[in-house]
Amino acid sequence: MATICMPSFLCLIFVFIANFVPLLADDATPVIFVLGDSTADVGTNNFLHHSKARANFPHNGVDFPNSRATGRFSNGFNTADLLAKRFGLKRSPPPFLFLRKLKCHCKKHPFKGVNFASGGSGLLDITGSKPTVVPLSEQIAQFASVRDDFVATMGPAATEAILSKSLFFISIGSNDIFGYFKTKHRMPEDKFLCLLISAYSKHITTLYELGARKFGIISVPSVGCCPAQRLVQKHLNGSDGCFGAINDFAQAFHSALDTLLLNISSQLPGMKYSLGNAFRMTLDIIANRELFKFKNVTAACCGHGTLNAQGLCNATASLCPDRRKYLFWDMVHPTQKASDLAAQTLFNGTQYYVSPINFSQLAKDN
Ligand SMILES: *[C@@H]1O[C@H](CO)[C@@H](O)[C@H](O)[C@H]1NC(C)=O
Ligand SMILES: *[C@@H]1O[C@H](CO)[C@@H](O)[C@H](O)[C@H]1NC(C)=O
Ligand SMILES: *[C@@H]1O[C@H](CO)[C@@H](O)[C@H](O)[C@H]1NC(C)=O
Ligand SMILES: *[C@@H]1O[C@H](CO)[C@@H](O)[C@H](O)[C@H]1NC(C)=O
Ligand SMILES: *[C@@H]1O[C@H](CO)[C@@H](O)[C@H](O)[C@H]1NC(C)=O
Ligand SMILES: *[C@@H]1O[C@H](CO)[C@@H](O)[C@H](O)[C@H]1NC(C)=O
Repeated sequence: MATICMPSFLCLIFVFIANFVPLLADDATPVIFVLGDSTADVGTNNFLHHSKARANFPHNGVDFPNSRATGRFSNGFNTADLLAKRFGLKRSPPPFLFLRKLKCHCKKHPFKGVNFASGGSGLLDITGSKPTVVPLSEQIAQFASVRDDFVATMGPAATEAILSKSLFFISIGSNDIFGYFKTKHRMPEDKFLCLLISAYSKHITTLYELGARKFGIISVPSVGCCPAQRLVQKHLNGSDGCFGAINDFAQAFHSALDTLLLNISSQLPGMKYSLGNAFRMTLDIIANRELFKFKNVTAACCGHGTLNAQGLCNATASLCPDRRKYLFWDMVHPTQKASDLAAQTLFNGTQYYVSPINFSQLAKDN
């Protein structure tokens, strides 16, 4: 056995076979693959030496077990964790770069899936820029290497069977949009939207060709309402609200993505998807904060300066005493409580928030 474990991913496959077959029998936990940006990153960027998009220091993780800063951009668990939890996992599967480093130690960990998400990344390779982030195209290449190891160990038919039942969660797009609005001389908005949607189309098609069938996709939230963008709005015209232009774009992105998914799912046999409307979820929480028991939906819980949005959450930042009362953890990311609300809605919400089916139906449906 030990010799089989020499190359990094072979070992993972060994564990996979040893542990997954019984799981398959009771069919309780689907294998989960997570791709995306900081909303889903569970420590990928800790392995990128020059990455500036990191969160592996306090006050991040203050509400995580043992108050550990794991690299999650959150006070505790993020949406990838809380979604995985609804499917019977303890939290998100570990980062690809972590598993690759583990080698034989992974014997202790049964295979539940892999998380490829990288903070700062986007649909476009230029977003975030290498080597500080892992762009979505490279996350997919990493998935392809996992798949190659599956095929090498158990053959193409078994691999196909497993992947067709696996869930692929994707949460990405905000960083491309932030980047666009920061650029001075930029292409027209409709042209940029087309660029993003055709990139998304290409990524989903590539995953499909590699065997993915069930896609749980989370669109871009109303990012114009995050503390950092509220500050941008304030500097632009002195008003206190959300940054309207960027929200309009995020909403248009959701509609275009909805149309794209409808179109490509009709062309790719066996493809199933759920699209979560993160834009609507965030705006509805902001409009009804009492209903969700939030006290503050404008400022960050952790940060520096105005709205706690003038500096990153770090050890010297001001920290709100009750994280459950805040929508925003830092200047762009949601708190664990907000992520949990999102996960619950994605899992079993109505078509108003997640369509054409919710994530629990996506997992069941064959
Ligand atoms: C500032 O711009 C936003 C839209 O981006 C608009 O809703 C708001 O009324 C403007 N405020 C002022 C004071 O011009
Ligand atoms: C649907 O997809 C096809 C092929 O990718 C494309 O030619 C067509 O324009 C798309 N239709 C819509 C309404 O987007
Ligand atoms: C939220 O916090 C910010 C900054 O601490 C403050 O300016 C704002 O008034 C607070 N909002 C509410 C509704 O308490
Ligand atoms: C925390 O962030 C603030 C604001 O960006 C910065 O001035 C300070 O040096 C940082 N502190 C640490 C310990 O990194
Ligand atoms: C969403 O999920 C729940 C639980 O699986 C289910 O009962 C419900 O009908 C689903 N769909 C909609 C549209 O609400
Ligand atoms: C959705 O799931 C949560 C917990 O996972 C549960 O409390 C809630 O009742 C469910 N709602 C529906 C409509 O199934």
